[in-house]
Amino acid sequence: MKRRTFLKAALAAGIGAPARAADAEIEIRPAEPGPTVSPHLYGHFIEHLGGVIYDGIWVGTGSRIANIQGLRRQFVEDMKALGAPNIRWPGGCFADMYHWRDGIGPRQRRPRTNNFWQRDLPKEIDGTESNEFGTHEFLQLCELTGAEPYLAANVGSGSPREFHDWATYCNAPPGLTTLAREREANGRREPFRVKYWGVGNESWGCGGNFKPGEYATLYRRFVTQFPAYYLEPYFIAAGPSGSREDGHLDWTRGFFEGMIGHSRRIWPHGWALHYYTRPRRTPNASEDSLERWYDILAAGARMESLIEDHWRIMGEFDPEHRVKLVVDEWGVWQPRADVVGPRYLFSQVGNLRDALHAALTLDIFNRHADKIDMANIAQTINCIHSLFAAREDRFARTPTFYVFQLYRGHLGGRRIPLRIQAPDLRVSFGKQAAPLFALAGSASMRDGRCCLTLVSPSADEDLFASLGAAGAAILEARASVLTHTDRNAANSLESPETVKPAGLAVTVSGAKAQLRIPKHSVVALEIRTG
Ligand code: AHR
Repeated sequence: MKRRTFLKAALAAGIGAPARAADAEIEIRPAEPGPTVSPHLYGHFIEHLGGVIYDGIWVGTGSRIANIQGLRRQFVEDMKALGAPNIRWPGGCFADMYHWRDGIGPRQRRPRTNNFWQRDLPKEIDGTESNEFGTHEFLQLCELTGAEPYLAANVGSGSPREFHDWATYCNAPPGLTTLAREREANGRREPFRVKYWGVGNESWGCGGNFKPGEYATLYRRFVTQFPAYYLEPYFIAAGPSGSREDGHLDWTRGFFEGMIGHSRRIWPHGWALHYYTRPRRTPNASEDSLERWYDILAAGARMESLIEDHWRIMGEFDPEHRVKLVVDEWGVWQPRADVVGPRYLFSQVGNLRDALHAALTLDIFNRHADKIDMANIAQTINCIHSLFAAREDRFARTPTFYVFQLYRGHLGGRRIPLRIQAPDLRVSFGKQAAPLFALAGSASMRDGRCCLTLVSPSADEDLFASLGAAGAAILEARASVLTHTDRNAANSLESPETVKPAGLAVTVSGAKAQLRIPKHSVVALEIRTG
């Protein structure tokens, strides 16, 4: 990588600090209007896959692991402390083979069924589904953590009736229908009030292998007779896979073509986009290599153009943009790891690189807060891009957990414009070289304070930054940083506290702030302007 060319503009010197040129000029515009950063952009996804539900979340009521009604206590407490806004369940691919009635009633009498993910487990491991964790257990988890439930219905192998019955079971007032009485017999009198309903998952793939027009027909069948009288639903239709080389734009176009001429009443409110980041240019490089580091971060930044491209196509059919994007699966999918244990499918090393990826993705969501209603990292615990790892009585927070913690200041804020001037990095992938942002971020205002978050991907250079506010003076600024001297540092069950946030010095003088942003770091500032 070539050394950055420093910007020429000199900064006003801080008190007692030597004057020097800034590598990055940052400007926020606190007074400008902007969309609300929905807390739902910081949502979660859990599936009956490997060790996500069983052991990760559900340890059982008789467990020696600290639990609240069978739910791992530490997980519940951390999710609550994080302000987790929503949780999507039960899949993923599992959703399109899940029959909700298997997961209600006395646990010991629930059937043992197949699980989609059995196919990926070694033969000697029993991957069948006990159904111990079902509708009541999931909705209990949501209530304990304060998260809104988002249920994904089975379109691939279920029926509209099964879908509508599930909604009636969850939402009908006490005693009103036979299903509401059954819910009460199962211990829950009051309705659960589930608003978010996914209509299938990846219907172009594991959710049924449909063509977009076929799926549009099914989507209409599933929603038209939905019992909306108990609670106005928010429907999320199964959208494209951004991981495809071509961005899967034809899926978006094909689905909306299938909606033309049909009542607006049944159009989806959300259009689900999935995007997993996998190495694009370095298939043979090692996971710890510098090439892989930049490849993953550059590939993660592609989220921005995916949002813009699908949004543009949606606008051709829906010029007022009443349908919003819901990025309900995203994250870095590392090569097959199963690090927590062989049964813990796709459990990964929770490292600093993936935390930077999560941060740059959340910044992209904030910047496009007008287009996205919800997003869900995949998956919250013991899986692809997780916030937690857990095995029996051991528990760890990954560096990505700390990103969600550092970004809390954005939730519910008003997004404001942010301008960053810093020459791009030039990074190499074997024989190829490409530009990569040297600093990216997002800014929002809440309760008179600005939350500014920044990602510095450089593997070898700190960045000296000058921060100003258009039309205002910076009066006070506090910063936290997530980094480590070793860019490959990770948190694991054996070493859960290797990567943690720390305070970062900021100098405020002459209406501006200056700070040194460490290489390979995520920085969050809280700023007061006047
Ligand atoms: O998150 C793992 C899987 O990835 C999900 O089940 C599926 O929707 C996607 O392909």
